Amino acid sequence: MPAEEDAPPAPVVAYQSDRVTLYRGDAAQLVGILPTVDLLATDPPYGVKFVSKRDARTRARFGPLLGDDGTLDVPALLGVLTRGHLRNRRHAYVFGYRPDQLTEPMQLGSTAELIWDKGVPGRGNFEMPWGPAHELITFGARCASAAHRADGSGKTAARMRAGSVLRYGRPNGKTTRHPTEKPVPLMAELIESSSRRGEVVLDPFAGSGSTLVAAVLTGRRAIGCELDPRYAEVAARRLAEAERIADMMRAA
Ligand SMILES: C[S@@+](CC[C@H](N)C(=O)[O-])C[C@H]1O[C@@H](n2cnc3c(N)ncnc32)[C@H](O)[C@@H]1O
Repeated sequence: MPAEEDAPPAPVVAYQSDRVTLYRGDAAQLVGILPTVDLLATDPPYGVKFVSKRDARTRARFGPLLGDDGTLDVPALLGVLTRGHLRNRRHAYVFGYRPDQLTEPMQLGSTAELIWDKGVPGRGNFEMPWGPAHELITFGARCASAAHRADGSGKTAARMRAGSVLRYGRPNGKTTRHPTEKPVPLMAELIESSSRRGEVVLDPFAGSGSTLVAAVLTGRRAIGCELDPRYAEVAARRLAEAERIADMMRAA
């Protein structure tokens, strides 16, 4: 048994309003305290000791990503969160992990691979002839019944059909707030494709808060969690601004 002082501290509320709750702390500790959610959209640590390939100043500014040393079992944690809190038959989007890594732990009945096309290649490995210009996003629909997963009846009925390549420029390098920041319009497209206004979107690895900001701007409610206090603070600031904009749009 770990000594009590070794146990990770319980998440604390870093930002709260009638639309959004952002926790600062370990997402694993949210299990059991979250309500039921309608959509999970998240960009977890990749477990690759990610270091920004931009200039030395940017590297020094951001430092390494927390939880990215390969010791966190992301599919298992997403599995516990999904099974405990994502409504049956509702959707999940997970960046950086393949469908075969997520299907079993997250009880996904049907999955698809989406590609975020960033337009221009990032720096990556200069010894390679091909520079990284895309990221994988796994889409899945939760199917809680093992029998339905096995017989294929847990497949989603398509309400809409769109191409699997999503083209959005990466956030401007000079103004990014996080080394792996996602564009808000990309997150908004995923959210609008898989939820209705007023429903609850969960991002347990919120970073600078792009998913939560997109949820607010598209009229959803949102719950997020971020381990690194620096990024929890950035996300809280962005959420306050997004709510101001959403209020203005509602009043107009
Ligand atoms: C890939 S980044 C997300 C970036 C985000 N999509 C954005 O647009 O800014 C993953 C985030 O998960 C956070 N993280 C790592 N382990 C965590 C944990 N156990 N609980 C909550 N957050 C965690 C990291 O600090 C990092 O900011």
